Amino acid sequence: MDVLGIDIGGSGIKGAPVDTGAGKLTEERLRIPTPRPSKPGEVADVVASIVKHFGWSGPVGITFPGVVVDGVVLTAANVDHSWEGVDAAVLFGGATVLNDADAAGMAEMTFGQGRGRQGTVLVLTFGTGIGSALFTDGRLVRNTEFGHLQVRGKDAEHRASAKVREDLDLSWKAWAGRVEEYLRYVEMLFTPSLIVIGGGVSKKAGKFLPHITLDTPVVPADLRNEAGIIGAACAAAPLRS
Ligand code: BGC
Repeated sequence: MDVLGIDIGGSGIKGAPVDTGAGKLTEERLRIPTPRPSKPGEVADVVASIVKHFGWSGPVGITFPGVVVDGVVLTAANVDHSWEGVDAAVLFGGATVLNDADAAGMAEMTFGQGRGRQGTVLVLTFGTGIGSALFTDGRLVRNTEFGHLQVRGKDAEHRASAKVREDLDLSWKAWAGRVEEYLRYVEMLFTPSLIVIGGGVSKKAGKFLPHITLDTPVVPADLRNEAGIIGAACAAAPLRS
């Protein structure tokens, strides 16, 4: 069935209707810059305008860039801190709300690189922050926050997110060095059988993956930056009986 998927990020809010059986967008996505400050009311207005743009009255799935438990936001590292404690599911009129990387990871496990993969698979999204989705034999361990692992005394996402590359104007090679250092740490901790790189940078994998050497295979997400929208929609799709 078709479900509207909306992906809230630190820099943009993107939405599109999704065929949840095929894992594909059915219309061109709409992207609106994340309001500044990114407070709940302002973000809810953007979400409402995306719903209106598509004339949507069916189910809606929404990702959020922080820990979300039962629709309630617990952390907000890259959006306004006033989100903490907000019942986002209520704010968004009963939508299904989940962590952005978890959504992207589930889409990638269902329709992309992780399809049919057993063992430990780690999907890491590089954008404003670093998001993580950990799978063991295809099952998601929700709300892992591996972007906040410490590397050289700092949150990994403050050294190696895609935003850091842009802010510091790092070459792809220099940035890849930071990403590799982080991935080596993650590899040591979890011994994954596959690492999938998602987020906006996955479109540019050719520029940085050749500079990364790891024992674990590292591949770009098949669904590129649409994984969040697709995963959000799938999370909100009623279960087939
Ligand atoms: C947040 C995560 C989120 C990631 C990517 C991190 O700062 O803590 O929850 O998945 O950014 O948006």
